[in-house]
Parts: sequence; structure tokens; C-alpha cells
Amino acid sequence: MDFNLTEEHIMIRDAARDFAKNELLPGVIERDNKQEFPAEQIKKMGDLGLMGMMVPPEYGGSGMDTIAYVLAMEEISKIDASASVVMSVNNSLVCYGLYAFGTEEQKQKYLVPLASGQKLGAFCLSEPEAGSDATSQKTTAIDNGDHYILNGTKNWITNGGNADYYLVIAQTDREKGHRGINAFIVEKGWEGFEVGPKEDKLGIRGSDTHTLNFNDVKVPKENRIGEDGFGFKFAMKTLSGGRIGIAAQALGIAGGAYDLARDYSKIRKAFGTEICNHQAIAFKLADMLVEIECARHLVMKAAWEKDQGLNYDMSGAMAKLKASEVAMKVSVEAVQVHGGNGYVKEYHVERLMRDAKITQIYEGTSEIQKIVISRGLLRD
Ligand code: CAA
Ligand code: FAD
Repeated sequence: MDFNLTEEHIMIRDAARDFAKNELLPGVIERDNKQEFPAEQIKKMGDLGLMGMMVPPEYGGSGMDTIAYVLAMEEISKIDASASVVMSVNNSLVCYGLYAFGTEEQKQKYLVPLASGQKLGAFCLSEPEAGSDATSQKTTAIDNGDHYILNGTKNWITNGGNADYYLVIAQTDREKGHRGINAFIVEKGWEGFEVGPKEDKLGIRGSDTHTLNFNDVKVPKENRIGEDGFGFKFAMKTLSGGRIGIAAQALGIAGGAYDLARDYSKIRKAFGTEICNHQAIAFKLADMLVEIECARHLVMKAAWEKDQGLNYDMSGAMAKLKASEVAMKVSVEAVQVHGGNGYVKEYHVERLMRDAKITQIYEGTSEIQKIVISRGLLRD
């Protein structure tokens, strides 16, 4: 067993770390306040090869492995979890989905611009009545000869307003249940496709989350992904990898909060000494670090399994479950270590605490991860 990172992994991690410090940190508080999408920064991340990391170069990507991806996600998330969710959706849901299951034509037309960062993607599964219960799709795609007619509403869609291409899951044959679900590539601007208002959120406020409405949108048959009826499995398989990305995001949020708490504890004085010399604070830091290391091992194991071509449904779910819990716990403790300063925006930890919560909700809530894990362990 080798716990060392390769030279390439270290280089990517350091490049992402530098980018986060130099390009994301300066405006992160303001973007959070104003709910401003980091458009310029995402463009630069595309130029750095961070938007299609696991896609081979012939399709516009950087040709790296999942370990490299989680290392970069962690570094970006330490500073700006809004930017990292934009990155995560584009990389592990949209690009991976198209690379693994798209046709050659779909890859040339859509994957190349997405993986190279020229275009941005969104993944549209959730609906007002189909969140955790994802097979209850109400959006319909009716076969109409050489095209489908798409009708319905998707909600909570990350990159909803800023994306160019949308992977949309819809029911084509209700009688077949989940085997009658399909996935489609839809372009922004197609007639009948409307982007609804932006959500006003607790955290990851720099990312844009929208409701999308589809009213008789004509989707060409060649834009269906996979065989007829593959859409639900497409969503599940894609989400298994997506959950590793969100686990890395949670790990980064926890790591960012821990770093700030540790550094602050070494300069803040109370009762004549730095607060890290009070055992209550030192033990808090020790507990935080142990939890982060537990989460890191699960995240790395899931990424490694994916890179080895092993099944990672359970390990991805375990990583997301644990890392999101750790992000929440550690960020709350980081606020505590900062005392009153933890409660104001200037010190960053209050934002990390607000950002942490979403990692327990999206790409399957913690309860859903337990369903995936428990079904897996009973099956095995
Ligand atoms: N890979 C392949 N196939 C899978 C699969 C996987 N990982 N998981 C399930 N399936 C298949 C099953 O085998 C089954 O097919 P068969 O009947 O042919 O065997 C079919 O899918 C239905 O599976 P279940 O009976 O297990 O379905 P269920 O209704 O019990 O739901 C669930 C299972 C795991 C709870 C699923 O609904 C789920 O993951 N829900 C959460 C949805 C979610 O994660 N949404 C995230 C939206 S995207 C997002 O959030 C992005 C973001 O924020 C940034
Ligand atoms: P519900 O399914 O209504 O769940 C409510 C509660 O009940 C939860 O605690 C849940 O765990 C629990 N629960 C439900 N069923 C069970 C069960 N069987 N057993 C135990 N507990 C259960 N979706 C997309 O498709 N694309 C996106 O880009 C996207 N981005 C998002 C961004 C943000 C900021 C947010 C908030 C959400 C986003 N989502 C996205 C949606 C997200 O995936 C869903 O919110 C999530 O899957 C939960 O669905 P729900 O909100 O309908 O909650």
C-alpha cells in the first residue's frame, strides 16, 4: 500500500491551491454576499484544465485520474465551495456522463467544448416531486418521430442560469417505470426552454441554482443518451462518481475551516496565553484533524477504486456520507475556536459553515447514502 502522491498529483494539487489563493480568495466574500457567479474565475479554471479533468485530451479534457480530480476539488473547496460545485457538476456529472455513455457525435459536439471549459453544463434530475425519490419523474419526453417533445419542470439545478448544455432526465414511457426513463442533451435557447428565477440560498451562494421549465421543447432523437430506457441507470451511474466529487468538496470545506481555526488559535490570546495552549482548544483541533483524516481515507479509497475500474457505488456513498458529516462538524467547531470573530464574514469560517450543510443534501442526502450503503452490504 502506497500512501504517497505521484509527482503529477502533487503538481496538480499545488496548482489548484495556488489558483484558489490567488484567484478565488480575493473576491469570495463579496461574491457570497451578492450571490455572484464566479464567471471569470470559472473561465480561468477551464484554461487551467480543471473543468474536464478526467476526460482524455482527444475530447478536450486533461486526461487525469480521479485522484487528481479529488485533490483539485479539495483545494478549490477550501477557499470557494461555490466555484467547486460548478467544477464538480461540469466534471463528474456532465463530462463524465457524456464521455462514458455518449455517442461519438455527442462527444464531438458537446463534450469537447464542455471538457475544454469553453461551455458549461448542468445535470437535471431533481423535480418538485422527485428529489430523493428520483424514479418519480413527472417531466415527459414523448416520442414524435425523429424527435422527442419535452415537457415539465426541473428544480434546484446548479449552473441553471449559466450553463450552455443541460443533461435532462425525463419519462418517455410511464408504464415501464424507471425502465421508461431517458436522458437527453438540451441546449440553452431552444424554443420552449425557460430558465426560472435564482434561489436565494444559505450557502454556496456564488453558484446559481434555478428552476427550469420545458414547454414543448423539440429534442432531436440523436440527443438521447444511450439505448431507449437507459436514462435512470445513466443518472445513477453518473451520480456514483459525482458523489466522490462532492465528498472531496466536503473534505475541502472541512480542511479550509480547520486550517483557519489552527492558525487563529496560535495568535489569539486569552488568559495570558495563545488559546491553542488551552487544552479544550488543542483537543478540539486534534478531534478535527482525526475526523478529516478519516474522511480523506474514504475519499481517496473511492477515487482509487474508480481509477482501478472497480465498483465504487458503495465507497463513493460512504465517502460522501462521512466527509459531509465531517465538513459540518469541523466547520461548526472552527467557528467556536474563533469566538465572536467566527460569527462575522471577514474570518471566512461562518461561510464555510454555511457551505458545509449542502454537502449533506445534494447528490443524494445522507439518508439516501445510507440506503445505497445498506442495500450494497446486504446484497454483497
Ligand atoms: N448503477 C446502475 N444501476 C443502478 C444504480 C447504480 N448505481 N442504482 C440503482 N440502479 C438501478 C437498479 O438496479 C434498478 O434497476 P433494475 O430494476 O433494472 O435492477 C433501478 O436502477 C432502480 O433502482 P432502485 O430500485 O434501487 O430505485 P429506488 O427507487 O429504490 O431509488 C435511490 C434508489 C438510490 C434512492 C435513488 O433514487 C437515488 O439515488 N436518489 C437520490 C437522487 C439524487 O442523488 N439526486 C441528485 C441530483 S443531482 C445533484 O444533486 C447535483 C448537485 O447538487 C450538484
Ligand atoms: P426530499 O426527497 O423531499 O427529502 C426530504 C427529507 O426526507 C430528507 O432529509 C431526505 O433524506 C428524507 N428522505 C426522503 N426519502 C427517504 C427515505 N426513503 N428514507 C429516509 N429518509 C428519506 N438536483 C439536480 O438534479 N441537479 C442539480 O444540479 C442540483 N443542484 C442542487 C443544488 C442545491 C443548492 C440544492 C439545495 C439541491 C440541488 N439538487 C440538484 C437537488 C438535490 O439533489 C435534492 O435536493 C436532494 O436529492 C433531496 O431531494 P429533496 O430536496 O426533494 O428532498
